[in-house]
Amino acid sequence: MEIICLNGDFLPAEKAFVSALDQGFLYGFGLFETIFVKGGRPVFLERHLERLFRSAHTLEIPCFFSAAGLARMIEETIRKNKVKNGSLRLTLSAGVGAQAMAGHFPGAQGEKSAAVQATLVIFARRGLPYTPDQYRRGLRAGFVSARKNERSPLVGLKTLNYLENLLAKKEARARGWDEALFLNTAGNLAEGSVSNIFLVREDRVITPALDQGLLPGITRQAVLEKCAALGIEAEERVVSPQEIWQARECFLTNALMGVMPLVEVDGRMIGDGRPGAVTQKLGQVIF
Ligand SMILES: Cc1ncc(COP(=O)(O)O)c(C=O)c1O
Repeated sequence: MEIICLNGDFLPAEKAFVSALDQGFLYGFGLFETIFVKGGRPVFLERHLERLFRSAHTLEIPCFFSAAGLARMIEETIRKNKVKNGSLRLTLSAGVGAQAMAGHFPGAQGEKSAAVQATLVIFARRGLPYTPDQYRRGLRAGFVSARKNERSPLVGLKTLNYLENLLAKKEARARGWDEALFLNTAGNLAEGSVSNIFLVREDRVITPALDQGLLPGITRQAVLEKCAALGIEAEERVVSPQEIWQARECFLTNALMGVMPLVEVDGRMIGDGRPGAVTQKLGQVIF
């Protein structure tokens, strides 16, 4: 039986309900984190919680749980669901707004009407969405028509407004690609629909800078730190899409995939079309 942690209570999935007036449901007003569970332990937990708290502060979501409290709930959710290797999803929405509680405009958060309390949902699932074959062969991706808006206040936050990414992924799938890539409004490289992107050129690792319209991925940051530790030069900068095909290797990152080779974009091969040595090296040390 699946057990879900709802605002600190552990409930069977069929009994875990959120209010119809929750601002996460009404407006996509909320945040989430997807965390890799390895050997029953949440990987990079501190970093995920740090991003969550920082983003909650930005959006003024009143989370009354401490980081230590959240960590305990996360560990308990993993334990109760007996997840050894898999994923954990944490959702923190703005909850039911104060005005909705007072019976005014349904659920909207007015200027001074902070939510009474955030809604917290945690669940953990066994298994991962990526196969050994994908790591062996590498993924294929392509550019979708929608652009990431590098000036949007949402683009650097992992919010419940995820539909743009889902639609991009759907467009990619329909075209036979594994992942969708976004340019930003200036026509430069931003990120994937569920991942950050890296290029390897002349033994140098390159990734779009944080102001290019992308999520500051936990794995992206970990890769940059691993590069420093391994003595690999890394650059965060403006990257033009053409550079992809000048690169010797490309790879994608997210919390569940770690480091995933990217061997083809828009039907054109990258390097020799096979996972590269730097990609494989980083993939071995990332978790
Ligand atoms: C749009 C987007 N960019 C980047 C990432 C990678 O972030 P992380 O490494 O924190 O999983 C994700 C993760 O799902 C994402 O959805």
